[in-house]
Amino acid sequence: MQSSSIQKRQLSIFDSVDDLVDVTIERFIWLSEEAIKRRGRFTVALSGGHTPKVIYERLASPEVAQRIEWSKVYFFMGDERCVPDDSEDNNFRMARLSMLSKLKIPHENLFPTQGQDKDPAQSALDYENTIRKFFGVKEGDWPAFDLMFMGLGPDGHTASLFPNTAALSEMRRLVVANYVERLKSWRITMTLPLINRSRHIIFVVSGSEKADVLADILSSDEVKYPSQLVRPHEGELEWFVDREAAAKTNLSHIGSGE
Ligand code: 6PG
Repeated sequence: MQSSSIQKRQLSIFDSVDDLVDVTIERFIWLSEEAIKRRGRFTVALSGGHTPKVIYERLASPEVAQRIEWSKVYFFMGDERCVPDDSEDNNFRMARLSMLSKLKIPHENLFPTQGQDKDPAQSALDYENTIRKFFGVKEGDWPAFDLMFMGLGPDGHTASLFPNTAALSEMRRLVVANYVERLKSWRITMTLPLINRSRHIIFVVSGSEKADVLADILSSDEVKYPSQLVRPHEGELEWFVDREAAAKTNLSHIGSGE
């Protein structure tokens, strides 16, 4: 694994997705122990996507699952597609099948969006109220998730904050419905002000299809993509990427520090 600190974020380049997952799992366990010790619970916002799915499957593996106090872990969705709960495109369904259904997590610890396929705007409002109620924060206050998993799309989107969409400029709400013209579909997404209050944010990025956008993101401070707007106010930001995704950065020459 190679690491470097660039523009106030920690970037780690892994030889394989397996190595990336190994370190992500250890980080998750450490963060869960810290959060439960300090605040009695561990609040996590999950991302959709292929790379996150591999992490969820490993978290549910017996050798890992036994190391985590699941009764004190609370799962939310960082974003959701406005499709039925049982749709193959539903992010929470992916998290449920790959991880949640295999773990002894109390039902009341799981917070999927509701009604996202029927009324996106109302679903976003309801989800915002659910988050406010859970954290006990009023309008104007901001809750802080202990851990936010983020993916990266080839167009530089993260969560459902896509380029040139209205959600990027939302500074008051915690959660909004966001119409994505390119996909001709609605999404529910946590907003940047909420995401940036997280205590710890981990981008998990793998595959050669991310090489161009990642190289662009890491090569300059100029903000060209939504994912570059993820800059936690006080929390930690880590980028965990595999060598394929890092192939076009000028960082792959970093010595293979263990
Ligand atoms: C979504 C995800 C999205 C995802 C990226 C990366 O709902 O689409 O939340 O932000 O994380 O598109 O996905 P892959 O890892 O599958 O490329």
